[in-house]
Amino acid sequence: MAKKLKRSYKFALRSSLYITLFATVLLVALLYAFGIKHVELPIIFTAICFLFCFFILQIRVERFIYQRVKKIYDDVTLLDVSDFQNYPITTDMATLTKEIEKFATNKKLEIETLKIRENYRKEFIGNVSHELKTPLFTVQGYILTLLDGAMEDKHIRKKYLNRAEKGVERLIYIVRDLDMITKLETGDLNLDREEFNIIELVQSVFDLLEMKAAKKDISLAFDMQYANPILVVADKERIQQVLTNLVVNSIKYGRENGTTEISVENLIRNKVIVRITDNGEGIQKENIPRLFERFYRVDKSGSRREGGSGLGLAIVKHIIEAHNEKIYIESEYGVGSEFSFTLEKAK
Ligand SMILES: Nc1ncnc2c1ncn2[C@@H]1O[C@H](COP(=O)(O)OP(=O)(O)OP(=O)(O)O)[C@@H](O)[C@H]1O
Ligand SMILES: [Mg+2]
Repeated sequence: MAKKLKRSYKFALRSSLYITLFATVLLVALLYAFGIKHVELPIIFTAICFLFCFFILQIRVERFIYQRVKKIYDDVTLLDVSDFQNYPITTDMATLTKEIEKFATNKKLEIETLKIRENYRKEFIGNVSHELKTPLFTVQGYILTLLDGAMEDKHIRKKYLNRAEKGVERLIYIVRDLDMITKLETGDLNLDREEFNIIELVQSVFDLLEMKAAKKDISLAFDMQYANPILVVADKERIQQVLTNLVVNSIKYGRENGTTEISVENLIRNKVIVRITDNGEGIQKENIPRLFERFYRVDKSGSRREGGSGLGLAIVKHIIEAHNEKIYIESEYGVGSEFSFTLEKAK
């Protein structure tokens, strides 16, 4: 009970007791000094004095503390003032302390998240400018050489202009990927779901990449003959992009004379799983968890030779996740890799 008593009451009670005690003793002494003999008077006086002191003190103390606490709430504008006004103000500062602690923890968390995001942003901008610099300088280099006189030689002119064009192409490719990833990350990209035959789509991706694969003597094939169409529901254009990125990777990181094989299997009642398997260089275990990060490349120099910027798989993952589907990777270093993703079957 005593514990439950508000500390402000305790304070007012004690103080009024002291004042009353002093005043009563003084009154009794004065009465005695003036020779007045009265028993009720001191008792009535004590009662009134005590009650009066108690109320005045209690109200004043509450006011005093309320104003100060309110000032703290006002100064720390981010504390929720409504929280404070809901309680009758108590003079033990428990509520305020608790509020401030809560506030501090929240702020700490918020600051940490902001710091992480800020680092991410810095890293992203660093990566972007780094990626853009190489082709830009290449293009500039060729143009400057041409202007410095190389233009006169018809043969060199054509060669350098072609190289400059390759650089510009690469720039466009990076900017397009960046644009795509930004849209995917901000959720600005609306999926245009439709029903289509995934086998046919895979075949068209194979057709488009046939030349690229032929340069490394890589064969692009299905694991078996798919006589019947397999209908799925998804954004066809985006899934084509996913397939293209995965098949291009299997060619880029595949070995000469290798194979890239695609299979489409039923997974559960309403899902199919598309697997893209290659027998290329494979990926070391420690690199697998970071593979889907933007700009992440396993072998920087190797990928650079292939002209990758490390955005391909990040885009693939975003697209698959936007479809609420899953993407998996299995790879053994030196043996090959398998990327697979699920899709919804048409009803
Ligand atoms: N099939 C694969 N076999 C071996 N390594 C792979 C395969 N696919 C991806 N990787 C590794 O994963 C890294 C990231 O791939 P990602 O497609 O994101 O980037 P990239 O191919 O380097 O560039 P981009 O696709 O943007 O042109 C690659 O640099 C490569 O090292
Ligand atoms: Mg790639």
